[in-house]
Amino acid sequence: MSERISTSSPRLGSISDDDPILAFDGAAALLRAWGGGLKPDPLLTVSEWADRYRKLSSRSAAEPGRYRTRRTPYMKEIMDALSPGHPAQRVVFMKAAQVGATESGNSFIGFVIHQAPGPMLAVQPTVELAKRNSRQRIDPLIEESPALRDKVKPARSRDAGNTMLSKEFAGGILIMTGANSAVGLRSTPARYIFLDEVDAYPASADEEG
Ligand SMILES: Nc1ncnc2c1ncn2[C@@H]1O[C@H](COP(=O)(O)OP(=O)(O)OP(=O)(O)O)[C@@H](O)[C@H]1O
Ligand SMILES: [Mg+2]
Repeated sequence: MSERISTSSPRLGSISDDDPILAFDGAAALLRAWGGGLKPDPLLTVSEWADRYRKLSSRSAAEPGRYRTRRTPYMKEIMDALSPGHPAQRVVFMKAAQVGATESGNSFIGFVIHQAPGPMLAVQPTVELAKRNSRQRIDPLIEESPALRDKVKPARSRDAGNTMLSKEFAGGILIMTGANSAVGLRSTPARYIFLDEVDAYPASADEEG
């Protein structure tokens, strides 16, 4: 390829199909990818994302099938406060049992992977529970929502960046760990944090506070 393409070129503002700058194989694909990168995030909220893209797996859900926010309407406001466009920085949910809280947090995870990637930390009370949650709920979340399946490589492929406790995707990584693990929590900068079952957290992770 002899042509040079520079995103700072003033010509890119007025490109047309017969422009000599496009006279090489693969130019169309390159421009498509470039255009995709320029597209702003859709102004979706977490609940709208879940209604549009999320499937509940028979491996983890009492009622498998499409996720519908109207099945648990009281969760809508909470989910929407988790959206990056919402001004809330910290959302605390004090709740009864089995009301759909973890499912809403999982929709938050799906939203981040698909729409607003960044480093995310998801914490369960113990590493053991984090592993179980990953296998039982996060793997099906990714595998059964086509929008997410394309973003996270299958765990089987080598160097996939997909292990039981971490899932890499374009522009971010989901790290899962336990509140009992100082090692798991250390040195982990995160834009998003999802703390589940906080009441069960030990007061101190391995005597490190
Ligand atoms: N909108 C929904 N539509 C259908 N099923 C749902 C919905 N929200 C939650 N569920 C189902 O309800 C059950 C409980 O959900 P979840 O585990 O998220 O609740 P929880 O509040 O985290 O429970 P716990 O108190 O045990 O932690 C699960 O089987 C889940 O799939
Ligand atoms: Mg839960």
